[in-house]
Amino acid sequence: MSNYHIKHLEEYFQVYRKSVRNPESFWEEVAEEHFHWRKRWNSVLEWDFTTPEIKWFDGAELNITENCIDRHLRIRGDKTAIIFEPNDPKEAAEHITYTQLHERVCKFANVLKDQGVKKGDRVVVYLPMIPELAISILACARIGAVHSVVFAGFSSTALATRINDCGAKIVLTSDGSYRGNKTIDLKGIVDDALEQCPGVDTVLVKKRTGEKVEMKAGRDQWIEPLLDKAYSDCVPEIVDAEHPLFILYTSGSTGRPKGMVHTTGGYMVYTAYTFKNVFQYREEDVYWCTADIGWITGHSYIVYGPLANGATTVMFEGVPSYPDHGRFWEVVEKHKVTQFYTAPTAIRALAKKDLDFVTKYDLSSLKVLGTVGEPINEEAWHWYNDHVGNKKCPIVDTWWQTETGGILISPIPFSTPTKPTYATLPMPGIQPALMDENGKEIKGNQVDGRLCIKFPWPSIARTIWGDHKRYRDTYFAAFEGMYFTGDGALRDEVGYYRITGRVDDVIIVSGHNLGTAPIEDAINEHPAVAESAIVGFPHDIKGNALYGFVILKETGEGRNRENLEKEINQLITEHIGPIAKLDKIQFVEGLPKTRSGKIMRRILRKIASKDTDNLGDTSTLLNPEVVEGIIKESK
Ligand code: WT7
Repeated sequence: MSNYHIKHLEEYFQVYRKSVRNPESFWEEVAEEHFHWRKRWNSVLEWDFTTPEIKWFDGAELNITENCIDRHLRIRGDKTAIIFEPNDPKEAAEHITYTQLHERVCKFANVLKDQGVKKGDRVVVYLPMIPELAISILACARIGAVHSVVFAGFSSTALATRINDCGAKIVLTSDGSYRGNKTIDLKGIVDDALEQCPGVDTVLVKKRTGEKVEMKAGRDQWIEPLLDKAYSDCVPEIVDAEHPLFILYTSGSTGRPKGMVHTTGGYMVYTAYTFKNVFQYREEDVYWCTADIGWITGHSYIVYGPLANGATTVMFEGVPSYPDHGRFWEVVEKHKVTQFYTAPTAIRALAKKDLDFVTKYDLSSLKVLGTVGEPINEEAWHWYNDHVGNKKCPIVDTWWQTETGGILISPIPFSTPTKPTYATLPMPGIQPALMDENGKEIKGNQVDGRLCIKFPWPSIARTIWGDHKRYRDTYFAAFEGMYFTGDGALRDEVGYYRITGRVDDVIIVSGHNLGTAPIEDAINEHPAVAESAIVGFPHDIKGNALYGFVILKETGEGRNRENLEKEINQLITEHIGPIAKLDKIQFVEGLPKTRSGKIMRRILRKIASKDTDNLGDTSTLLNPEVVEGIIKESK
């Protein structure tokens, strides 16, 4: 029996049992059989969830790009590794073979080396979804540099915060980017950000839109001439299994974004293993994940997982609504996509449009559909199943997080019977637990609680860059000896998991993970604002939208409310990005607070969701009188 490719439910249960009985020998077998290591590990796993310290394949040495590229050259060198589908359907798609990918990654790696980038140095990548985004991160991995991709929809302030946090000296970007019928001046955003980043001395710029940009002498260089001159082979830097591969920032419920650190060996093994099983990937398939590489989904399931399997992976630069709402399906037909992986928010938006946008395309190549990022509601699930999958493609509702590196709970297609809105069963090696508020595990089925994981898996983030204490406090302090996910979940009568949503102050908007604190900080910068509180409320496309309760200073009271709303959203766009804009803003006299001064978000959430019949206990509030006024004037 192969541990690597699960083909029916019985086999899943067998593999699962084996994986939890002896996780070390399970992962050791996977690591041994399917990857190229330069040196074998001394121990498979060392862990302690209290410190916390986690090491997989300690002592082993490898280069992940040898596994994702070089070892495929002999057997599938002419196979397409990446299909680049541009924003504009009139522009030709680009097919990059494994041989070409090897050459382009090597050249890029040599350029980085020439710029003085060394093993362990951080490289911030602020690029749109063009091939250089994938190529540049692989180039970093080639030389042992640590990439930190910042989603190219983030603002200059957000970019600057991340550059400074990880201490990067070099930033990779492009002149601009295309998004539907808009172009975005990425280089201008980088220029603004760098005013706050004294540590950056090098910016390499890829041409994409051809718009005129300013090039700062001594700092900025076009990348094309450097690539042209670069040597097309680059000896891979061999690193320890626990060498950091990348830092990726995610929002926390409080304070600054958290730079989650993922390391090399375990991350490679886990993303490759889950890619193969969750998508039932086969050699001749064409796999498409619509996420941006600026998010963990793109890192693990556009780049590393697929390439480690020698797959053909589609990179899409555009948006689902351009030139019209049939674009996804046009691309599926064009490239004969076999696995399609997207977000519930995209499905909900497309399901609202005319069905002709779907039915006019031939989607018969599809075998497996996937969703990720937020709970999928039943209507969206059925629309996806009926109209995209034609009731023949299992839907994998994959639950995971930036911190987990890879998918932890998901059906395995053709093995696990699916159930709408359920992520179903844990992957091999994953040991979920539901916990009650007193820190006790809730055993048995038909129960709900806070979702924790009891045992490490190979791709768990190892720390928060520069702040190990915060890593411990955020993930390992709430429940002793467990990794706490921040999500609530229920387990049904057969043991299937359904994720019910965040139980902390993180709000998922259109699948984007947003912390309340940074948004509130942005709002509070407005000179007329005294205090603010953000909560989520249900939205039929975004899943959740943001509702802001804002107290004005006395000096701000007389101001035009409409202008104030615009200015507040402008501030949010500048500090975080347009994804964090508020759908509703209500100016209030006061915010409900506990006696210790903490805002009672539970009450605000109910008001924002128009669910005010049962507000629960308000007697512990410091100022119960404000609640009525807020309800009366709510939007
Ligand atoms: C949070 C993590 C994993 C890549 C994308 C998001 C929510 C994610 C699901 C799902 C219900 C989901 C959780 C999780 N989430 N997938 N299938 N069903 N909720 O990564 O930005 O780190 O967000 O997204 O709340 O904790 P992220």
